[in-house]
Amino acid sequence: MGLITKAPRGTLDKLPAEIHKYQYIERTAVDTAVLYGYKEIRTPVFEHTELFKRSVGDTTDVVQKEMYTFEDKKGRSLTLKPEGTAGAARAAIENGLLGEALPLKLCYITNCYRYEAPQSGRYREFSQFGAEVYGANTPTCDAELIAFAYDLFTKLGVKDYTIEINSIGCPDCRASYQEKLREYYAQFTDKLCRDCTERLAKNPMRLLDCKVCDFKEAAPVILEYNCESCGDFFARFKAGLDSLGIPYVVNPKIVRGLDYYTNTVFEFISNTGTVFGAGGRYNGLIKELGGTDTPASGFALGLERIASIIENFPMSRVPDIYIASMGEKATAFSLKLSQDLRAAGLFSECDIVGRSVKAQMRFADKIKARFTVVIGESELESGKVMLKNMESGESVEIALDGIHEQIS
Ligand code: HAM
Repeated sequence: MGLITKAPRGTLDKLPAEIHKYQYIERTAVDTAVLYGYKEIRTPVFEHTELFKRSVGDTTDVVQKEMYTFEDKKGRSLTLKPEGTAGAARAAIENGLLGEALPLKLCYITNCYRYEAPQSGRYREFSQFGAEVYGANTPTCDAELIAFAYDLFTKLGVKDYTIEINSIGCPDCRASYQEKLREYYAQFTDKLCRDCTERLAKNPMRLLDCKVCDFKEAAPVILEYNCESCGDFFARFKAGLDSLGIPYVVNPKIVRGLDYYTNTVFEFISNTGTVFGAGGRYNGLIKELGGTDTPASGFALGLERIASIIENFPMSRVPDIYIASMGEKATAFSLKLSQDLRAAGLFSECDIVGRSVKAQMRFADKIKARFTVVIGESELESGKVMLKNMESGESVEIALDGIHEQIS
C-alpha cells in the first residue's frame, strides 16, 4: 500500500463504527466534570518546546526521546503536546485564571503526541481527558480528584481495575531520597545506558522509569523517605479515600515518568495491567513556569485505553425513519418531511441519491432504520402512507402528517 493511503505509524483512525464509544466516554466525562465544578479549557496542540522541558522535565523519556519537535518558518522551536497538564497550566497563568476564585478546576479533552514504540494501547497520537485543580494543597483535594475519577469509571462501566497510590514527597524529602538512589545505583554505573548515566548526576529518580536499565527492583522506595509532614499528608489522603469507601492499593514503587509531581501520585490499572489513567499533585509547577506559587493536582485518562476496557457501550443511534420516494415531486416532499421530523428531534433519512425504490429499501435495511415509508404520487394525493416497522415487518396505514406521533 502506498504511503498516501496508509496512516502514519502509531496513529489510529477512529472509524464511524466505533466513534460512538469515544463520544460516550467524552460526553460522560464532561458531564460528570460539571458536577465537580470543572470548566473545560482548550489549548493549542503545539506549544513552545521550552514549556515541556521546564514542566515535564528535560531528563524524562518524554522530553528526551518522545517529543514531536519542529521549527516553524521563523525558527521557533515548537512541540506537539505530549500531555495536557503543561498547556493547561501555561494558559491558566497567561490568562490570569489563577488570580480569580480559587480553587480553579479545569478539564480538557486533547490529542497528545509521543514518539513511542507503538504496541497494543500505545500510540504516537492518542487522546486524553484531563482534570486539573489549582489552588488547593490538601489531601481532601486529592481525595476528591480520585472520587471524580472513580465516579466516572462507575458511570462508564469500567470494572476490575485498581487504584494504586503513592507519595513521592516534597522537594526536601526528595533530596535525601535522591542521595539514597545515587548510592544504590553507584554499583551499576558501568552497566547504565547513556541517558541514565546522565540522569544519575542530574535526576536519579528518572532511572526508575528507564525502559532499558532494569535495576529498579531492589532500589530504595521513596515512600520510606517521606518527611513527617508529607507522611501526614499521605495518611490524611488515604483516610479521605477510606471515608469515601474508595478502594485503593499503596504501591510504593510508583514514581511517574514526569518531573513535576510532588506528594500524591496515583495510577488506574486494569486487571490486564493497562495503565489507563494517572496523575498526582504538582505543587511546584505553576511557580516553575513563572506564575504565582499555586499548588495543583490532577489526572489524565487515556481515551483509547479506556475505550478498549469498557465492555458495554450504548448503541449508536439508528435512523428513526427512512422515507423512500418515487418521482421528483415525492422526493422534494420527502426532503421537506425529513426536515420537519428532524426539527421534532427524530433521526430521519430520505433518498438523496436518486435510486430506485428497491435500492432505497435495501439501503434503509443496511442503515437499520426503525421505520420506513414509501411516498409516490398516490400517497401525495391521498395524504396516507404505509408505515412499516422494520423489526416486526408489520405495516399500518397512517396519515402523512401523523408520522411523528406514530414513531416517537
Ligand atoms: P501520563 O501517565 O503520562 O500522565 O499519561 C496519562 C494517560 O495517558 C496514561 O495513563 C495513558 O492512559 C495515556 N497515555 C499516555 N501515553 C500514551 C500512549 N503513548 N498511547 C496511548 N495512551 C497513552 C500525564 O500525561 C499527566 N499529564 C497526567 C496528569 C494530569 N497529572 C496531573 N495532571
